[in-house]
Amino acid sequence: MSVSGDGPVAVVTGGARRLGRHLCSTLAARGFDLVVLYRTAEADAQSLTAAIEARGRHARALPVDVALEADVASVFRDIRATEGRLDLLVNNVGNYNPQHVTKLDPTAWDATLAANLSGAFYCCYHALPFMSDNGNIINVGMAGLEGIRANVHGTDYYVSKTGLLVLTRALAAAHADRRIRVNMVSPGQLDNSIDLPPPDKIGRTVPLGRAGHLDDVTQAVEYLLDASYVTGVNIDISGGYRL
Ligand SMILES: NC(=O)c1ccc[n+]([C@@H]2O[C@H](COP(=O)([O-])OP(=O)(O)OC[C@H]3O[C@@H](n4cnc5c(N)ncnc54)[C@H](OP(=O)(O)O)[C@@H]3O)[C@@H](O)[C@H]2O)c1
Repeated sequence: MSVSGDGPVAVVTGGARRLGRHLCSTLAARGFDLVVLYRTAEADAQSLTAAIEARGRHARALPVDVALEADVASVFRDIRATEGRLDLLVNNVGNYNPQHVTKLDPTAWDATLAANLSGAFYCCYHALPFMSDNGNIINVGMAGLEGIRANVHGTDYYVSKTGLLVLTRALAAAHADRRIRVNMVSPGQLDNSIDLPPPDKIGRTVPLGRAGHLDDVTQAVEYLLDASYVTGVNIDISGGYRL
């Protein structure tokens, strides 16, 4: 279904499933019209846009591989022409590759950096020229970035998310004159994580003793949308992961 509503417009990358899907539903409930970006999950994206439309907001889904700059440019040209405005970009794509660093090859390294870091940069680059003043960018990071410790598993992922934090802060400083705020939310181990410890062990790394829920993350996103004096911050939503 085509869009051209009167509400503010949010674009969410990797929006069709899991955390991205929950973010889209939460944003629609707050009054955003949605552009759901997906890569392969077309059926999920279509069911999500139908559910959002049924609740009275406009929504449409567009396929994109954020690692390909030309694809990203084309998708944002389409959004500019169709929705005509952009108020919120959520860079939610974050491929986690828990390979041991000694087994990590250049192909895997490049793929992770391309999707998680370059992809977010391409989206910001093509979104910012037509983003509304007072708009928001929210990047999705990972817990523990500010006191990063060695982890031999997922090094490419950690590097990509650390780069995303640097990008977040630079863009926050650079676009503050337009009152565009750029922040980051950094989940710890969510209850849908692929390497979640068993409930009796999670307290070893998570002082609050439980896995995170999707609502814990959307709560922080909603806070950032309301917090008009907050930019360039990174919020860990992790129950105190590795404090
Ligand atoms: N889940 C956790 O425990 C956890 C913990 C810490 C941080 N995070 C962060 O939270 C965010 C969401 O996590 P998640 O577990 O919900 O994510 P996910 O399921 O791993 O991925 C979200 C979506 O990203 C899309 N995607 C992947 N590569 C893409 C590409 N090159 N171009 C466009 N789309 C691409 C996929 O879309 P399609 O399905 O359409 O292919 C996928 O559905 C990520 O940034 C992740 O790093 C998650």
